[in-house]
This record gives sequence, C-alpha cells and structure tokens, in this order.
Amino acid sequence: MTHSGDPWTLSGMKDNNRQHEAPVRNFLSTLVTMPGEHARFMNMLSMLEHMGSRKIMVSQMDRMEELDLDTLQHLSEEARHAFFFKRQAERIAGKSLNGWVDENTTQRISAMMYFGRLDAGISKQVPADKAYGWVSLIIELRACWLYHIYHEVLEASDVQLSLKSLIAEEDKHLAEMFEMVGEDVELMRDLSAYETDLFGKLWGKISSALDIAQAA
Ligand SMILES: [Fe+2]
Ligand SMILES: [Fe+2]
Repeated sequence: MTHSGDPWTLSGMKDNNRQHEAPVRNFLSTLVTMPGEHARFMNMLSMLEHMGSRKIMVSQMDRMEELDLDTLQHLSEEARHAFFFKRQAERIAGKSLNGWVDENTTQRISAMMYFGRLDAGISKQVPADKAYGWVSLIIELRACWLYHIYHEVLEASDVQLSLKSLIAEEDKHLAEMFEMVGEDVELMRDLSAYETDLFGKLWGKISSALDIAQAA
C-alpha cells in the first residue's frame, strides 16, 4: 500500500522541530571544532545506533518463521552505523574508545534514557506486532532530521567526514517504515510529538554539557 503525503508533513515533525533547528545547528558548528567533544558525541550516536540495532534484533527473536530480508538488512545497517560512528569517533579522538562509558560518551545516561522512554512509551500505545514499525518510524524521523543538519555542518567545516551513505540508508529506512505503519496519521502525530518532547530534554542536557566543557 502506498500512502499519499510524506512523513515529515503528516507527522508534524518538521513544524514541531523548527524551534530546535537553529540551536542544534549552532551547537554542532561549535562541536565540530572541538575534536575531543566531537568524538564523545559521535560515540554517543554509535551507542544509540547500537541500541537501535539490538532493539530490532530482540524484537525479531520470536519471528523466526517470518523474518524477512528487509528487516535483516535494516538490522545490519543500524549495526554498521554503530560501527561507522565509533570508527570515526576513534579517528577524530586519535585513540581507542572502548565501549560506552561516561568518559567517552556525551550524556550517556540521558541518551540511554531517551531511547528507553521512547521505546517504552511508543510500545505501550501500539499493538505488539506493530511496535517494530512504529518505534522505527519515529526514530528514523529523528535520525534523518538530525543527520541532515549534521551533514550540512560537516560540509561547511574542516572536518573530513561524509554522512552521505549513512543518510541514504536512513532515508530508505524512513520510507520503508512509513510504508509499513504510516496510514494512521493521528497516531503518527501523537508519537512524533512525544518523541520531540523527549528529544528536547535530551538536547538540553547535551548542549549544557558543551557549555561546561567550554567553560573548563
Ligand atoms: Fe542508523
Ligand atoms: Fe535507520
């Protein structure tokens, strides 16, 4: 089934996040000039990607008779994104960043709480067999939104790092998840607003951490 419209407009995501665009862009523009902090931020993205891939894997463990190629591909691409961000983080840090601990991960606990609340909050509002599609759709909206801004910031900076192929994969995931569950526009609006609230809280923590790092 093909839905009319696009997930950005239908979910209200673009409009509801207009307030965050300039602050996020400004934050990232400063962040990329600070290699140590930039590496910690990328390691946080690596953790979130890893949690996403793990979440897909766990959600599919009782679907051994149905698991399809698209879902396996989605899972493996999220795992690769975790690898990609950690590898880039290590390159920029110039050292190994093993695991995800406070020392090498921006706002580690807040980021874990963001993911956990998002997953739990969405999962209790949708049928169990649709949780994969809904959680993924809402996460992909955020991933695409953030990575497009991040990509533009990197392009304008001295940092040699391209998010092009990563963004192409996230855009494809978004289209697939929209296709899977996007017919319920009202629910999509509610869930996206819920995520935007959680993101606002997480971003507040992330940007205040940078203020502290700059003052130090
Ligand atoms: Fe991803
Ligand atoms: Fe994705």
